Amino acid sequence: MIFNWRNRTLWTGDNLDVMRGMNSESVDLIYLDPPFNSNTDYSAPIGSEAAGAAFKDTWTLSDVDEAWHGEIADRQPALYAIIDAADLAHGKGMKSYLIMMAIRLLEMHRLLKPTGSLYLHCDPTAGHYLKTLMDVIFGRSNFINEIIWQRTSSRNDARRWGAVHDTILFYANGASSFCWNRTYTPHTPDYIEKFYRHRDGRGRYRLHEIIRTASMGERPNLSYEYKGYTPRWGWRRVREKVEALDRDRRIEWSDSGRPYLKRYLHEQSGTPVRDVISDIPPVSAHAAERTGYPTQKPLALLDRIIRASSNEDDMVLDPFCGCATALVAADRLNRQWAGIDLSPLAANLVLKRLRDDRGALFDDVIHRTDIPRRTDLGDVPNYRTHKHTLYGRQEGVCGGCRILFPFRNLTVDHVIPRAKCGSDHIDNLQLLCGACNSMKGTDSQEQLVIRLVEQGIRQQGAGNDGN
Ligand SMILES: C[S@@+](CC[C@H](N)C(=O)[O-])C[C@H]1O[C@@H](n2cnc3c(N)ncnc32)[C@H](O)[C@@H]1O
Repeated sequence: MIFNWRNRTLWTGDNLDVMRGMNSESVDLIYLDPPFNSNTDYSAPIGSEAAGAAFKDTWTLSDVDEAWHGEIADRQPALYAIIDAADLAHGKGMKSYLIMMAIRLLEMHRLLKPTGSLYLHCDPTAGHYLKTLMDVIFGRSNFINEIIWQRTSSRNDARRWGAVHDTILFYANGASSFCWNRTYTPHTPDYIEKFYRHRDGRGRYRLHEIIRTASMGERPNLSYEYKGYTPRWGWRRVREKVEALDRDRRIEWSDSGRPYLKRYLHEQSGTPVRDVISDIPPVSAHAAERTGYPTQKPLALLDRIIRASSNEDDMVLDPFCGCATALVAADRLNRQWAGIDLSPLAANLVLKRLRDDRGALFDDVIHRTDIPRRTDLGDVPNYRTHKHTLYGRQEGVCGGCRILFPFRNLTVDHVIPRAKCGSDHIDNLQLLCGACNSMKGTDSQEQLVIRLVEQGIRQQGAGNDGN
């Protein structure tokens, strides 16, 4: 599916509203670094480039739209069970946070292409609950890795193990089809010193086994004599290969007459990436990339993630983009990108950062505050033309108060209001009587039902809502 926005778009606004306007299956990679439910409110230091930028990370039920409860319970009842369990174990703050996250993760899942992946950056505060939410939304077989990023080395907690890591949960949309590029990190100086101890005219090298050992057992077709040496358990290469390596002076014979393969440092790719990242430090106070934005992540971390899980020209989305670390990294790697952040102050900083990073080339960054309109729902007829079908479906009963009305007294209503990007598709339509329609206004169906129940017009749990 084609995305319905331009490459290099930055939105200022609530990512839920923006994502609801984005076409399904249009994004290759999502990286999100949302608030972690840390019970702290963050602000940038005065005097820094980011001064004024702030975001809150304390959560109460008043932060949660009542409608999300019902939507989550309808779309994925198992999610709601997890959120309820978190409420019992942890309290209302965690419940509110998880509702805020679940409703957005559902949308992100819809946006991903079948080959797409999502990296959710979190920490041990809520990481265990987020993982169970993700298991439900993506399917537990699509969980790929839990990545530990050592974000600091200088923390001493007097009465417990020093808490120095964040967690990044990596899920694929389809475990058998997701994009994966083998990526490597350079060997550390310590590693090189320890293992690449030899040198010759070609450079540093290490000695690697070319014969099989007892634990590997014998391979009969690789048992042969070469230069008077017959290894007990056989060779690791066929004779022609061993001869070719020897001609190329890549076999070294030890004093005791045992052969080894020489592996040159400059010919190795490095260490394949692992799920513990300890070689990327946090953004230091004097780093050139530092913007001062609270909780800014290092470019090297995003570079690694984007290289591993996307290809050139792929679309990368960061729905909590902060000062745009993921977007800068994506652009440097020739990926397309879109970012969303609630904070208008973040937007100014991001636009400056993006332009500074690529100079004049970055004049094509688009800054939007409106909500995109989905173009992947096909040619939808005027919504009013569905009135007869809806009357039949609802058997003449108002979708709010559940009272029977004549056809002429009912009007077509958007269950998710158009103002919140609800579509004209019949699945998002219902018939309401005049009184319910004006009571609902641009609010959600759940809010209407709550009001009707409060006023004694409708009983709690009376039938399905909406369509
Ligand atoms: C942890 S920071 C992201 C930092 C970012 N990774 C970076 O390197 O700069 C979280 C960001 O999420 C934003 N945010 C919180 N709720 C949001 C929402 N509903 N929609 C969009 N952005 C949101 C905050 O304004 C904040 O900038």
